[in-house]
Amino acid sequence: MTSTEDLIGRAEVDDLESILAITNRDTDEIVHAVQDNAAAIFTWDYEKGARPALNKLYEKAKTAQWNGETDLPWETEVDQEKVVLANAAANNGLNDGMDLTGTQFEHWTDDEWLKLGIEFQNWQLSQFMHGEQGALLCTAKIVETVPWIDAKYYAATQVMDEARHVEVFAKYLETKLSSHYPINTHLRLLLDDIVSDSRWDMTYLGMQIMVEGLALAAFGFIHQLTTEPLLKKLLRYVMADEARHVAFGVLSLKEYYDELSLAELRERQEFAFEAAVRMRDRFLMQEVWDRLGVDVKPAIEIVMRAPQRQLFQQMLFSKIVPNCKKLGLLDAGDGWLRQRFGELGVIQFEDWADTGDEYDSFAIGSEAGAAVGT
Ligand SMILES: [Fe+2]
Ligand SMILES: [Fe+2]
Repeated sequence: MTSTEDLIGRAEVDDLESILAITNRDTDEIVHAVQDNAAAIFTWDYEKGARPALNKLYEKAKTAQWNGETDLPWETEVDQEKVVLANAAANNGLNDGMDLTGTQFEHWTDDEWLKLGIEFQNWQLSQFMHGEQGALLCTAKIVETVPWIDAKYYAATQVMDEARHVEVFAKYLETKLSSHYPINTHLRLLLDDIVSDSRWDMTYLGMQIMVEGLALAAFGFIHQLTTEPLLKKLLRYVMADEARHVAFGVLSLKEYYDELSLAELRERQEFAFEAAVRMRDRFLMQEVWDRLGVDVKPAIEIVMRAPQRQLFQQMLFSKIVPNCKKLGLLDAGDGWLRQRFGELGVIQFEDWADTGDEYDSFAIGSEAGAAVGT
């Protein structure tokens, strides 16, 4: 059996010391090469619609394209300080309503909190941008490696979607925010693992189910919290696409996983667990504390106790867990993944809606979409 140490490089999931020991030392690199180890698969079976659900998704994607340059209100002025203050006022205040007596933050001034808020915006949008590039590359790989024509067609539309996502996040960072961050190491390790795996379904599992499932939940959370209208609309548009992408993963893998042996499923369970831990680690924003000159470990220990933070941390898994359940990964074999998700404190989402067919409710202009602020 593979040990936790083999999977994530440490024996204890919550070992903060080990998590923080991994940092990005290649901050000056311009390109980063990863061997993708996969065969490009041609298919001579061109029957369109052999997989009706994928065909429907493809037809939907063709009519749901938008233009990042012209459909978003780029003329909106974004004053980062004002956004931090407005978000704080609309939510829990600058320090999330915490009692910080006796901590290194006890005597922080409003200016210091403001600076943290601004750096947090810079960091968060930077990581979203890097993650979107990961999706762009992974989906281009799926076009090559998936054996079904309906899936190749759909994946091709997703490649376009992801190009647009990278474009709009990069433009937002460049024109509205004050600085950017290199890719977080935990995120990079995960993307490297996904890209380098030779099995086509692992690209889907890592990207469409885990990374995009988490992104859909994170974007939804931030979409609700932010008071900045340009970002709100940008996230709303991106979410409409992401809901289709996650559905693409669920619909494709459901068919494939029904055929796998327990040993093969166990490898998928382990991969899902590894991805979940890496994604959780990446949200510790260690680079922000570093940049602000704050002692990183105690800062993170305090942040982890913040009520809004805990809610966010858990909500990140609100799409992933039901989708893993739908794919049969939660309970396959001895229910290994159920147990691990239990340890991560996210198993309570197992009966939430899965994303196999809820993408319509995220569509721009849809009636249900109005509920999430279209
Ligand atoms: Fe995306
Ligand atoms: Fe996506």
